[in-house]
Amino acid sequence: MTEQRGNWTSSAGFVLAATGSAIGLGNLWKFPFITWENNGGAFVLVYLVWLAAVGLPIMMAELLIGRKTQKSAVGALKEAVGPAWGLVGLWGVLCGFTLLSYYTVIAGWSLFFFFKTAGWMVGGFPAGTSLGQVFTEQSANGGLQLGLSLSFSIATVSVVYFGVQKGIEKIARLFLPVLFAILLLLFITSFAMEGSGQALAFIFRPSFGELDGGSILEALGHSFFTLSLGMGAMITYGSYISREQSVVKASAIIVLLDTVIALVATVIMFTVIFTAGMQDQVSETGTVGMLFISLPQLFFSEGVVPGGRFLAPLFYVLVALAALTSTVSLLEVVASFVIDELGVARHKATVMCGGVVFLFTIMAALSFGGASFATNLTAGGPIGSLFFAGKTSWFGMADHFVSNWMLPTGGLAITIAAGWFMTREASEGELTGHAEPGWFKYDIWRLFIRFVAPAAISAIVIAVVFFGVDFS
Ligand code: PHE
Repeated sequence: MTEQRGNWTSSAGFVLAATGSAIGLGNLWKFPFITWENNGGAFVLVYLVWLAAVGLPIMMAELLIGRKTQKSAVGALKEAVGPAWGLVGLWGVLCGFTLLSYYTVIAGWSLFFFFKTAGWMVGGFPAGTSLGQVFTEQSANGGLQLGLSLSFSIATVSVVYFGVQKGIEKIARLFLPVLFAILLLLFITSFAMEGSGQALAFIFRPSFGELDGGSILEALGHSFFTLSLGMGAMITYGSYISREQSVVKASAIIVLLDTVIALVATVIMFTVIFTAGMQDQVSETGTVGMLFISLPQLFFSEGVVPGGRFLAPLFYVLVALAALTSTVSLLEVVASFVIDELGVARHKATVMCGGVVFLFTIMAALSFGGASFATNLTAGGPIGSLFFAGKTSWFGMADHFVSNWMLPTGGLAITIAAGWFMTREASEGELTGHAEPGWFKYDIWRLFIRFVAPAAISAIVIAVVFFGVDFS
């Protein structure tokens, strides 16, 4: 291989890129809805505990494995832990591939709603429009879905094509500040709205009576997804960090920013919903409904969101940017494997991987009524119900398999690798000696990565395998 491996230009550049990977549809689409479903307060608190007790230690583990070896997922695990562990890396690559193939479809919806709301901003909101119908019609329109997801895939490939510095880091530096600014504007606006007190109470006032074992594990599963852990994305991003940089500090900032953004987004959405008194509709329309049915409607309802018609398109730009910095990291996992392990040049590898992933995106894009072979698909029999829990579309099956099987098993393997198969000297050497913050104690990290994290994740795996719990 003649090409030189990329590197982040600076510590801030890396932190922004990794934060960009973490902040995505998980923060803006999944987290608010599962918080809603699980009645807020106590669920949020449990989620915060998981982020600190499991998410943060694994973030450090993934970054340290990447930095130590300066290799992407497969090569890094092989070198840091042992040749057989390359399989865990491969599992991660497969997971990144699958997740990317359907994530792009939801990202495409944000493009659709950007154009739609921008049109309404200029031309006015047509009286009597049913947002539920707008949503269903767009998602069932196969041609439109293919166009949207193809556009998003092309955007993703174009970024990864230019490599670590000129592609990934550059757009993170450009887009993340914009994303923070839009969110701040919406956040400030939300305080001028009546429902904000109710929203804050719902999110932050814990009532433990509502919490069951399933919610506790759901919070854990989501902490993985939202931090981009369990599939080697952070190993890969870590492999471009220079040796001088503190993994501990970077991990803490990434986890903190991801958490703040998820909470802020949730406050905004719930404020809008409470102000309009739309609680019932939200519960009825499900995960998808909150972001793509209730919110667009509320932005255009008289007297709900001040300046709503101008904020609506901005909001969907925000969703699209957040999604793009995540899809880029997913494609990077796949492409860097092809680049590092198979010796293919970056440009060629990126286009090739993006193209092959898109073949599967086609199935996901047609899963909402676009074509019956993708929409009405069920994997029957005991194997089908074990792995796909009776989901009835390609999209549903892929999402179920990634959230319930791939991320938890990948995460479990990575924690075991870092905690039990890497020597103490190896991990200690990476984590200490870089001017760590005072709260960091290596032995405590080791305790969490060896015992707490594997025990907690094993509980998810057991719940899925033996009790058929569904986290997707
Ligand atoms: N963290 C991203 C989100 O919250 C999803 C993601 C998972 C991205 C794994 C990359 C790797 O949307």
